[in-house]
Amino acid sequence: MSDLSGKHIVLGLTGGIACFKSAELCRGLVKAGAAVQVVMTEAAEQFITAVTMQALSNRPVYTSQWDAREDNNMPHINLSRQADAILLAPCSADFIARLAQGRADELLSLLCLARPADRVPLLLAPAMNREMWAHPATQRNLAQVAADGAHVLGVGSGDQACGETGDGRMLEADELVEELTALFQPKVLAGQRVLVTAGPTFEAMDPIRGITNHSSGKMGFAIARAAREAGAEVTLVAGPVALATPRGVRRVDVKSARQMLAATQADVDRADIFIATAAVADWRPATEADQKIKKDGTGDAPTIAFTENPDILATVAKSERAQRRELFCVGFAAESQDLANNAQAKRERKGIPLLVGNIGPLAFGQDDNQLLLVDAQGTRELPRASKLVLARHLVGEIARRQAAWKQ
Ligand code: C5P
Repeated sequence: MSDLSGKHIVLGLTGGIACFKSAELCRGLVKAGAAVQVVMTEAAEQFITAVTMQALSNRPVYTSQWDAREDNNMPHINLSRQADAILLAPCSADFIARLAQGRADELLSLLCLARPADRVPLLLAPAMNREMWAHPATQRNLAQVAADGAHVLGVGSGDQACGETGDGRMLEADELVEELTALFQPKVLAGQRVLVTAGPTFEAMDPIRGITNHSSGKMGFAIARAAREAGAEVTLVAGPVALATPRGVRRVDVKSARQMLAATQADVDRADIFIATAAVADWRPATEADQKIKKDGTGDAPTIAFTENPDILATVAKSERAQRRELFCVGFAAESQDLANNAQAKRERKGIPLLVGNIGPLAFGQDDNQLLLVDAQGTRELPRASKLVLARHLVGEIARRQAAWKQ
């Protein structure tokens, strides 16, 4: 199932050069499974044609409140009642002002005003010149529409079509699809703070080389995304990986296990849930040479001594807050055989309420996985699925277990 399958989205375009991104956005929404109904203001039609948007959405575009195609001649009622959400992208400064005032003299503002606000969320992706964005009138209007219940999405920063540089760019199409997808996820972690470790660590032996492992970080990043979708405030402590930060997640990059421990400890006192997915190196070279270790021509290989790394999860699990059941700790275990027994033993050794096991060689670097949840009550399997789908299930399981465990 795609993320937005079964969802009916009204995509509203207002006047701005960012309309060129709305074509890509429309495709992204359709690809994610949504039915997309495009509505354009007169100004939007100066920037992109209704023909383009019709072809991409596979539906006739609406541009007027007098559209006679509707039997009752009430497109503002019909379109807003069919919708699961209304996304305005781009949303111009003028349109934000119109929303703030409750104006209704053209179709798009009319249908925003007419929407059943308790069940049809309104999302705004602002797009404008940086001075217009920073203007107190715009910020005042945005605060007003947010207070009236709209979800005001952020803006990007960088080069603007006018040649200036700054805040006010519309978010990219994939970011907007991610925001909309998040909106529909159940908010099982609302108000909670979640800390996730992800990826491998890199343990240097000299300024050039070190030891690491094949962890891609995909599972941990998916969990961070799913936790944020579920309403949590998420910090992601990431080892060296080449992955984009999930939207709305605070990321702290580290290299070594000791840095990962320090970054974790800096944040864990604020957390309600700690999820350790990182593949932390068990050992590091005992010393890190100041200069590159070179061949000396004798044919003798250098001897590298190792020392054990701190166990981040076990350290956190022993903390007072974890012991007082204010911090729910979740560990991961990659095993190569006898998953249930090994995982249960590891859970007890680490002193944590939940351990998530997987068969390492079947999980590393893959986009999908299968998980075994092990707690004091027994085991539960989450069958093979994409890491994001599994992460969403896992977040639901964690929320349920944490609530029961705290009592
Ligand atoms: O002991 P093992 O590495 O198999 O345990 C795996 C779990 O412990 C994972 O959740 C991993 O993130 C965590 N871990 C840790 N610090 C270490 C080693 C493992 O947090 N040094």
